[in-house]
Parts: sequence; C-alpha cells; structure tokens
Amino acid sequence: MKNKAVKIGRNTPCPCGSGKKYKNCCRNKKKEISIKEEYKRRYDIHIKEPHQIEGIRESGVLLMSILDKVEKMIKPGLKTDDINTFVHEETVKAGAVPAPLNYRGFPKSVCVSVNEVICHGIPGDRVLNDGDIVNVDITPILGGYYSDASKTFFVGTPDEKAKKIVSVAAESLKRGIETVTPGATVGDIGYAIQSYAESQSCSVVREFVGHGVGVDFHEQPQVLHFGARGKGVPFVPGMVFTIEPMINLGKKELHVLEDRWTAVTNDGSLSAQFEQTILVTENGWESLTPYEL
Ligand code: MF3
Ligand code: CO
Ligand code: CO
Repeated sequence: MKNKAVKIGRNTPCPCGSGKKYKNCCRNKKKEISIKEEYKRRYDIHIKEPHQIEGIRESGVLLMSILDKVEKMIKPGLKTDDINTFVHEETVKAGAVPAPLNYRGFPKSVCVSVNEVICHGIPGDRVLNDGDIVNVDITPILGGYYSDASKTFFVGTPDEKAKKIVSVAAESLKRGIETVTPGATVGDIGYAIQSYAESQSCSVVREFVGHGVGVDFHEQPQVLHFGARGKGVPFVPGMVFTIEPMINLGKKELHVLEDRWTAVTNDGSLSAQFEQTILVTENGWESLTPYEL
C-alpha cells in the first residue's frame, strides 16, 4: 500500500488537540525549538526558558536592592573593602552567592573601581576621597541564576571631568540598550555606543566586553561596545546578556596591574562604566537589573 503522509496545514486544527490553528500553536513551538537549537549550535548561545528568565529577574531584584544600599553608603572616608564586606553580607543574607569570589582567582565578592581604574578593581585599603568616582559591579547567584550590573557613583562633590565621564558612560549604556529588538544585531549596540562616546571625544575600552549571562557568569555572545551596524548575531527573544561600556576620558589603552586583575588607563585619565542585564523580548528589550540612565 502506498504511504500517504498527512500534511498538517497552517490553518488546520492543531494535532495536539488544543483547538487552535496549527500555525498559532505547535507550529510556533516547533519554530521556537529550532531557533533555540540553532543558536546553541551556531553560536553557543543559550536562549532562556520563561522559568529561567524569572530566576534571573529575581536575582536582579536582589542585585538592585544591594546596589541601592551601596549608593547610600558612598562618602569620603569609606574604604573600598567596606563595600566588599557589605555586598558580601547582604548577598549571603539573601541566600545568594557572590559570583566574583574565587572566580578565576578573584579574591573578593565585588569589583570596586576608582577613578583611573577601568574595571576589576579589588576592594582593599584604598579610601574614597571627595571628588572621586567609583564603580561598584555586583553579580549575585540566586537559586542558580546570575544577574550582573554596575553603576559609577560620585564621592562627595564631583568636578567637571568626573561629571562629564560619568554622564557619557551612562548615556552610552542607554543608547546601547535602546538598539535591542528582535532582528537588530549585536553590532548595532557597539555602533551606537562607539559613535556616541567618540562624538563626545571620549574613548571606548576594547579589551572587556558585555556577555551572555544567566545560567553562567560569562556566556556567549560577546557584546562589543564598538563596531559596525548590522554585524554580529541577530537578537531573538529569550536572549539575555549584559551591556557594560567602559568609557575613558582620555585614550582607550590600558594595562593590568601586578595583581593580575586591576585594569587602569595608560594615560591615567578617568574611566566610568554602567552595566545592566538585558532580556530580548518579542518587541524590544527589558532590563532585568533596571535603573534610570
Ligand atoms: N562583573 C564583571 C562583569 O561585568 C566580571 C567580574 S569578574 C571578577 O563581567 F572576577 F572580577 F569578579
Ligand atoms: Co558583566
Ligand atoms: Co559586572
């Protein structure tokens, strides 16, 4: 007997018995699954399931509550290690784990980066002075889910240079985030940030980039803060990654100190950074570590 394969039409009732048309039901699921598999295979990108997004969101709520409290502590005379103690205790108290601690040998629970320090500052005896700027970068693991965000704060009264670099870094993140929507690409973020920061005669750090995040600290894709429109991976709903531009008032070149972590500007100029964890939604983006920019 000849095998007559039954073809399921887009408009026929879904074979799963839902009563919906196939195209509005399991046909979409099939498409979602194939995109998920395709992104895993081609890019090693982990598209998140709704329950995972919920987990990352909860981690982000905790992160933002800690970051808000840190903001209130910042004043001249505070030691960077006091920020570490506070972040560590708040994280553990909430039943979470500070991801930086022992990550590739990082010795503390939070990154604290002052003035010419671009990122990965190790909390210690450095005392915050009036007029300093300080970035605090927090990554809790709550219920197995990572969120990652940072802000740069003024210590006491900022001078014009401090105001300028913090404002350009915040606006850079804002412009990067606003490019995110299904169909746009990772390169659009880099282009938006680089073209804006350079138009303000600031420079964009190349050595450190944003990253996929959520079930691990640093996942694919890499999110460059420089580059060309339309290049790189197209966004699809369920992608979760950070955008975290590091912007220098002077030149972009950097070196890493003897401690093998602290990255500083070669010319000693100020550097500022803002970071949020961003989810790609059906029609744009949602920050899972939201704050005003
Ligand atoms: N939170 C940083 C980032 O945004 C990574 C810090 S790694 C550490 O990716 F080991 F220094 F904590
Ligand atoms: Co990050
Ligand atoms: Co971070």
